Amino acid sequence: MNAEIIGNVQGVKQQDGVLILKTAEAEARVYSYSPTIIRVNISKQHLERDESFAVIRQPVTGFDFDESSAYIDVFTPALKLRIQKSPLRFNFFTNTGMPLSADDERYGTTWQGERVITYRKIYADEKFIGLGEKAGDLNRRGTSYTNWNTDAVDYTPKTDPLYKTFPFFIGLHSGLTYGLFFDNTHKSYFDFGASTDEQMSWFGADGGDMNYYFFGAQGVAQIIEDYTWLTGRMEMPPLWSLGYQQCRWSYMSSDEVLKIAKTFRDKQIPADVIYCDIDYMDNFKIFTWNKETFPEPKKMIDELKQLGFKLVTIVDPGIKIENGYKQYDEGLDKGYFATYPDGENYTGYVWPGRCHFPDFFREEVREWWGSAFTALAEPGVDGFWNDMNEPAVWNQNIPWMVKFGDKYMPEVRNAYGMQMARATYEGTREILGNKRPFVLTRAAYAGTQRYSAIWTGDNTGTDEHLLFGQRLVNSLGITGMSFTGVDIGGFSGNPTPELMVRWNSLGTYTPMFRNHAIQGSKMREPWEWGEEYEQIIKKDIEQRYKLLPYIYSGFYQSTQTGLPLSRTLAIEHAFDDSVYDIRFQNQFMFGNSILVAPVVSTELTADVYLPEGSWYRFGSDKIYEGGQVIHVPSPLTDLPVFIKAGGIIPMQSGVQNTSEQGDGILYIHVWNGAEPNSFVYYEDDGTSYDYEQGVYYKRLISFDPVKIVLRLSPVQGVFKSRFEQLRIVLHGFGEKGLKDELIENTTEEIVIEF
Ligand code: GLC
Repeated sequence: MNAEIIGNVQGVKQQDGVLILKTAEAEARVYSYSPTIIRVNISKQHLERDESFAVIRQPVTGFDFDESSAYIDVFTPALKLRIQKSPLRFNFFTNTGMPLSADDERYGTTWQGERVITYRKIYADEKFIGLGEKAGDLNRRGTSYTNWNTDAVDYTPKTDPLYKTFPFFIGLHSGLTYGLFFDNTHKSYFDFGASTDEQMSWFGADGGDMNYYFFGAQGVAQIIEDYTWLTGRMEMPPLWSLGYQQCRWSYMSSDEVLKIAKTFRDKQIPADVIYCDIDYMDNFKIFTWNKETFPEPKKMIDELKQLGFKLVTIVDPGIKIENGYKQYDEGLDKGYFATYPDGENYTGYVWPGRCHFPDFFREEVREWWGSAFTALAEPGVDGFWNDMNEPAVWNQNIPWMVKFGDKYMPEVRNAYGMQMARATYEGTREILGNKRPFVLTRAAYAGTQRYSAIWTGDNTGTDEHLLFGQRLVNSLGITGMSFTGVDIGGFSGNPTPELMVRWNSLGTYTPMFRNHAIQGSKMREPWEWGEEYEQIIKKDIEQRYKLLPYIYSGFYQSTQTGLPLSRTLAIEHAFDDSVYDIRFQNQFMFGNSILVAPVVSTELTADVYLPEGSWYRFGSDKIYEGGQVIHVPSPLTDLPVFIKAGGIIPMQSGVQNTSEQGDGILYIHVWNGAEPNSFVYYEDDGTSYDYEQGVYYKRLISFDPVKIVLRLSPVQGVFKSRFEQLRIVLHGFGEKGLKDELIENTTEEIVIEF
């Protein structure tokens, strides 16, 4: 197969605000989406419709450009794109002329058959972060990856590909940042100088266009903000989904589900969610209940609700082939399944045996699927877990000629899970009326944050996976996914009690906190580990609930700016090399002010890297100067967690689940620091969409270290806070105190001096 080069520009025109460049081989279109976002789409044959699963914005019409004999310079207020004509190359600069990213001079964009690849210059000091759920280290320099959504059974920290596709990365060099989103759902490839003698990096796909969005904002957080502006942000999650979630493959009967829920209450271990994995169904038929083991789902769910639990049930895409089964009959009748080219329904094996697979790429199929959730929502299910949607079939090899929509499998496989999650979200949103659904998916493509939370699939109960899982969560945060989790304890295998305890401590600081385990493993619930460990686990879950006002406000921030809750330190400290040190690369900020250092279960002390600034150990308030590595105790009772000086953390009293009021006091913790700091506190009813109509309670809490004053701005929104009173809790202020003063939570400005 010859490599075809792109050739020279032969014609230039601007049409409807799009710059069009023709070469003998191809046509390149350049669009501007915002001052910091430029799109380049190079194709041998542009499709009539310009579609994307990920992008929800339209380009701006018109931008400035200058043409000379050798170049076309495109200007936005923040960027310059210099397009070289012979041969065609795309080189991006800041508006002050600093080079951000450039095509490799020799090769640029090429084709080999249908395969399209862009080769790019690599800078000597360049680092790369991103791609979401990918193996390896935080800094992806020197590695390569494939995107091909896969049921990655028994994956290791080296396995690639995994379940999801996020073809978006951020490059860092010369003190500058840029981002690149390659919006192409074919099997795709990224090489960050792995096999090129460090001469270049490259990315490409097996088909489709060289279609990428270039982000030139300075700062990793700014690029994430732009990327999520382009691909959408999550909406407020139901508050209950941020509580502790208990799962297992499977609780086998209503009795068992209720027994587990009651045990949480008897032992006063807080929890909000319990799951039914595949065994609640009749022979794994989606949207059915096993009549023997789950004879009265509504009665069970009512009892769960009485106990303060929500139920989440699993659904897989595979529809069992069985006459008389509603979903099968309807899907067959209406032609809603993926087919071979001759129209025959594709058959693959999954849990139910022989199955057909809904074609989620068609709107009518999504609607049909979405409306079927009444079978679960009517008895009272609140959350919908989408699994096996890579899509998975046994032996993992769906023939390439299987059709989804008007496309073949290789072209859209990477978006199948996303379209299933979309159908589930849209359907359940409709069915639940004004109530927020909780959707969880295993497979995903860029933009999935608009529909669903995600988890990292079938991990293993080892210390290595504990660390790797955190890296996955942190990396997913770069690609717009804030609501993420891992199977706490590890899906496969049996964790040691120490590992279970340690992982649970990390769960406190994981956006989605879910304990899950494979069939046949030892039971994993918090009381399965002996009295001493049970108490530690309980205390950590209690801490999660106390932190919920901070966590909920953190999710609000994700809805507004796209900044994730779990943030690799590279977001704020992109040019601090220690952040990428493999000893410290798993550390992260949980929200604005909490730094967490994951530690394996076999180590009871830890080296922690604290970035610049001052830091307090959470709990003891021992203060440390940043910009150095510290060696600290990390007993199983106390994961190394630090608060940034100036940190403002709203907390609540202990509760057993998110519907409890607690003592009605919002505890606003403030840690002394030299820098002014502020925190956007956000609250709403936690369950409905009323917040979209202004029914929320939002105020800015700001700390002035010079005057030593804490100021709460007047409240915005019309929601009445569930906290009647405020108590300010000071840390690191020496003698100063306000310890027992209760302040009425009025909506006016509140000024507190100490
Ligand atoms: C898959 C899922 C896992 C689930 C199991 C049974 O392996 O990843 O979470 O428990 O299927 O449904």
